[in-house]
Parts: sequence; C-alpha cells; structure tokens
Amino acid sequence: MKIAVFSTQPYDQRFLDEALHNHSKLQKIELVYQQAGLTEQTASLAQGCELVCAFVNDQLDAPVLERLSQYGVKGILLRCAGFNNLDLATAQRLKLFVARVPAYSPEAVAEHTIALVMTLNRHIHRAYNRVREGNFRLDGLLGFNLYGKTVGLVGTGQIGLATARIFKGFGCRVLGCDPYTNPAFLTLGHYVELDQLLAESDIVSLHCPLNEQSKHLVNAQRLAQMKPGAMLVNTSRGGLIDTKAVIDALKSRQISALGIDVYEQESQLFFQDRSAEHIDDEVFLRLMTFPNVIVTGHQGFFTLEALREISEVTLHNLECYLEGTPCANALIVEAE
Ligand code: NAI
Repeated sequence: MKIAVFSTQPYDQRFLDEALHNHSKLQKIELVYQQAGLTEQTASLAQGCELVCAFVNDQLDAPVLERLSQYGVKGILLRCAGFNNLDLATAQRLKLFVARVPAYSPEAVAEHTIALVMTLNRHIHRAYNRVREGNFRLDGLLGFNLYGKTVGLVGTGQIGLATARIFKGFGCRVLGCDPYTNPAFLTLGHYVELDQLLAESDIVSLHCPLNEQSKHLVNAQRLAQMKPGAMLVNTSRGGLIDTKAVIDALKSRQISALGIDVYEQESQLFFQDRSAEHIDDEVFLRLMTFPNVIVTGHQGFFTLEALREISEVTLHNLECYLEGTPCANALIVEAE
C-alpha cells in the first residue's frame, strides 16, 4: 500500500523511514515522499495512494479532499496536532479516516516559547550581533527580571500547561484563561477572564487552537486592553493574531515586543529557503523592520524527541487504520 507524504522535508523522511523500519507489521507500506505541499494543483500526486500524510500548511479544504477522494484516497494521516487546515465536515461526508498526532512534545513548543521571551527580553539577538562587530555597549539591551512578573496564558491545554510550569519555575505569577478548567493548571496559577488576563499580564502567550471563534482573538480592541508595554508571544497559530493591528500596537508602543513562531500567511513563506527571492508580503516585511520583533519559521515542534514521537504516532495511527481497531487519535470516530 502506498502513502503520499506531502510537504516532505529531509528530516521528515529520515524520522518516518526510521520509524517504519522498526515496525515489523508495516513492511509492505511504501511512503511516496513529495516535497510539494498539498494543494488542488498537487493533489494528483496522490493518485495510486490509499492514504495521504499531511502537515500544518497542507490544504485540506473541501475541493482538495473531494479530489483526493476521487483518486481513491481513503484517509489522511496528519503529522501534527492542529487541524485548522482541514475541513472536518467534508472529510466526514467523504468517509475519510482522519487521525492526528495530538501531543508529541508539549515541552518542545513550551521551551521555544520561553526562548522567544528570553531572547526578546534580554535582546540576545542584538547582543549577539553587537559583540561579533566588536561593539560591547549595553545601551538598548536593558531587560527586566522575569521573577515576580505576571504571565498570561491563553489556553491551558498540554502546551499551555508545560509553559506554565516553566514560568512558575522563574517565580512568575501565572494567569490562565480557557473555557475548560485543567486541574493540573490550578497548582501553577489561577484562572481569570481574558479581559483581566490582558489587563494584568506583563507577558501574554497564546496556546489555544485556531478556529472560527479564536480567529483574530488578538485584535485592535484586545491589544488596547493589554497592560501598556507588555510582550506578546504566539507559538500556536498565526490566525490568532490580527498582524496589522499588532504592527499598529508596536508603532504606538502599546506592546513592547512581539515573538511569533507562526504567521497568518506563513504557508507562502515558511519551511522554504526564500533567501534568494523577493518576498512580496508587505505585512511580513514591516514586521522585519522592528528590532523588538522576532519571527521564527514554525520551529516550536522541532526537537529530536518531538520528531521521533510524530513519526511513531503517525505509524501507530496507520496501524489502527489497517487493522480497523479504534484509534484514540482519530478526528472522525464514526467514519464507516
Ligand atoms: P490542547 O488541545 O491540549 O490545548 C488547547 C487548549 O486551548 C484547550 O484547553 C482548549 O480548551 C483551549 N482553548 C480553546 N479555545 C480557546 C480560547 N478561545 N481561549 C482560550 N483557550 C481556548 O492543545 P496543545 O497541544 O496545547 O496545542 C495548542 C496549540 O499549539 C495547537 O492548537 C496548535 O495550534 C499549536 N501548536 C504549535 C506548534 C508549533 O510548532 N509552533 C506545535 C504544536 C501545536
């Protein structure tokens, strides 16, 4: 049986091949690696494959799913946690098996969140360049102690919780907002409404999924509610932030710094080497002009442990599909 693996990077191939090699039951599986991302134009690459393996920026909307179904594709193995790029209702209608990797390493994303906060706060990106140029002046590099500061986490699921643990270790006061109470979070911080979280936090970090309700959760109005001079961090999904409104808030100094690992229009940019090309995205280019903005290219998940886990769980989901056994990671439970 063949599986078309879209948006393949060399590390995906390495870890999936290693995991496949270790699964005696899956020796007849052929992974057909495609560098291309999945779109309506590239969907034909899945012809002859029973399953598609997709990543965060692959297009899994109704037209693509319908096309895949016409080609005989029976299911989607997502090698990521978020599924905002998937039209679940269409997948259900087409009776596709869909499974994801719900939690491969919450610590990987939590630690990257901290890396963004620490880099921005202590201006490590600027200090690195200065020292290499023989400039040892400290003006412009002033930071603040994290100890005693208030951190607001929007979303207290697996990643929010792992982030809370680390901030608690720094001696921060941790606030959370989430429609669901996570009992484990109650030992680290306390829940407040979003309004209060925004008003009191020195650092606001987003850890909730992107959906219709959370799109542009951080907009001009919410930015105005933030404590003046606070830092905003987003390692969740780009669409949670109205980037143009954030640019205005940076210009007016309403927020002091922005750290993002995700960007609303990232599918046009991320995971590719665009260094020899012109980047046409004016909003992204404006972000690049701020010294107090750090953008990383969706690398929060990118640790050895997480990549191993992603491959293992993806193949576990495949085994469930092949054997017809219940799959705890399936997004559509009733698919017949
Ligand atoms: P999770 O499902 O364990 O937790 C998400 C939490 O957000 C849940 O407790 C949920 O109740 C809460 N939530 C939902 N809507 C909310 C809202 N409007 N306001 C506040 N809370 C809300 O998910 P997990 O594993 O913690 O992942 C969070 C997000 O991180 C994912 O949805 C994904 O978008 C992103 N992610 C980013 C990665 C990266 O490499 N940068 C890697 C993996 C995930």
